[in-house]
Amino acid sequence: MHVSKTSDELAHDRGMLSAERSTDLSTLIFLAFASDLANGQGLKVGFYEQTCPNVEAIVKKTIDQVISVAPTLAAPLLRMHFHDCFVRGCEGSVLLNSPTKQAEKDAIPNLSLRGFQIIDKVKTRVEKECPGVVSCADIVALVARDVTAAIKGPYWEVETGRRDGTVSILIEALTNLLPPFANITTLKSGFKRRGLSVKDLVVLSGGHTIGISHCSSFNNRLYNFTGKGDTDPTLDPNYIARLKMTCKPGDQNSIVEMDPGSFKTFDEDYFKLVSKRRGLFQSDAALLDDSETKTYVKLHTTTHGTTFFKDFGVSMVKMGRIGVLTGMAGEIRKVCTKVN
Ligand code: HEM
Repeated sequence: MHVSKTSDELAHDRGMLSAERSTDLSTLIFLAFASDLANGQGLKVGFYEQTCPNVEAIVKKTIDQVISVAPTLAAPLLRMHFHDCFVRGCEGSVLLNSPTKQAEKDAIPNLSLRGFQIIDKVKTRVEKECPGVVSCADIVALVARDVTAAIKGPYWEVETGRRDGTVSILIEALTNLLPPFANITTLKSGFKRRGLSVKDLVVLSGGHTIGISHCSSFNNRLYNFTGKGDTDPTLDPNYIARLKMTCKPGDQNSIVEMDPGSFKTFDEDYFKLVSKRRGLFQSDAALLDDSETKTYVKLHTTTHGTTFFKDFGVSMVKMGRIGVLTGMAGEIRKVCTKVN
């Protein structure tokens, strides 16, 4: 099917040729417009249909290979897209290396991200087929979808057309990523600020149906909740006892499964856990403190075949629109860890 190009795509193509072109007035006007684009304008499903038709097949093939031997990498690769989007928008800034360790990936919440080498592997394969065409930000978005689908989770159409940013700042990751002790007010406002709804918050939190956490992310709930050596009363006491077997006081390094027993499979268990007061983080437990999020949690505890999978895809697409660079903004990085 032939798809006619949008003005943003034409500009995207133009961006690749920008060195060869002299800047005329229309380009300048366009530049001013393009730098203003945010939250999804300029993205579309199949953006690379003409310029790199095999890109999605290459990503999927690589991810299927990786996940078949290392299924635990699915979780951090899904989380990577979230951490990219919440800091400066979905523009690949989380991937950039800093020689002085001052980039986003050097910030504490990102030290537990894994799988950067998988993004590099995908990028290398894509570059071989279509040099200089596909952004690292789009690769992160496609990988997040493909890892989810590879572990029995939902599949959704990923909008593409993002371009890569050139700036990555440690402190911005610290201030923009929501901490595990965030309460419902902080969570709701953090999502709202990025154009995401209360429903998106509860749906996307369902990502915690896979993966692991370090004890350091919730140890305060087990040992010193209010500074008096107490436990978090909103956490199931039986669960506390079980978590204490792995997480000793002050333990930074041990890890636990977020959804014990099925942490490598994307399912609806997360809502059952939260409902039973077994959500690992205060931010998980906080979903019972708002009527809308609580209703969603409860519904997905009791009903089979619910809308969670479909909802997750919808919310991931919305998340993938946050603060994107399109048109002539940013660049198409040659290597995902460094600016051109
Ligand atoms: C709502 C606010 C959120 C907070 C406060 C939060 C916080 C955290 C924390 C503290 C960890 C554990 C890190 C560690 O100790 O190793 C974690 C892990 C994880 N998060 Fe979230 N998260 C949030 C939302 C999300 C969203 C929206 C997604 C994806 C859609 C997501 C996906 C994951 C995954 C898959 C893991 C497991 C990573 C692994 O196995 O390495 N989280 N999150």
